[in-house]
Amino acid sequence: MKILVLHGPNLNLLGLREPEIYGRMTLEQIDQALRKVAAELQVELEICQSNHEGVLIDRIQQAYGEAQGILINPAALTHTSVALRDALAAVALPVIEVHLSNIHAREAFRHQSLTASVATGVICGLGADGYLWGLRALVQIIKKKQQKEAPVKP
Ligand code: DQA
Repeated sequence: MKILVLHGPNLNLLGLREPEIYGRMTLEQIDQALRKVAAELQVELEICQSNHEGVLIDRIQQAYGEAQGILINPAALTHTSVALRDALAAVALPVIEVHLSNIHAREAFRHQSLTASVATGVICGLGADGYLWGLRALVQIIKKKQQKEAPVKP
């Protein structure tokens, strides 16, 4: 099983960036923790961070037929990008959306997520742990989907 992990704009600055909101873990440390959980669950990860909307959209499109699910923190694009939302809808894979902070407890412009409506589930406000719970949930969702789709033995 292969999972695409996508980190949106400015998440490369984690650790330095507003640590009182996003914590002190760097993106590299989050990715390391994800790789540890992936090894435990015996799933393959492809991880990509980009500050560019088009790069993220290209990766989502490439995931079609290649990956079985997407774990994504679209960062600021959550609140602005119809194109990212449409790409997720187009590939129709199970998606878990993650936010380090509780976007509903912050500025009003962060309360709306354009991508949440095409996600299977959303985790926010649990810091870096949210990614790890998100990966576990996604793997479980994909396994259940695969069981459902498997041909019934006569
Ligand atoms: C974020 C929340 C967004 O509103 C913000 O633009 C980010 C990070 C989070 O993980 O809490 O860049 O997605």
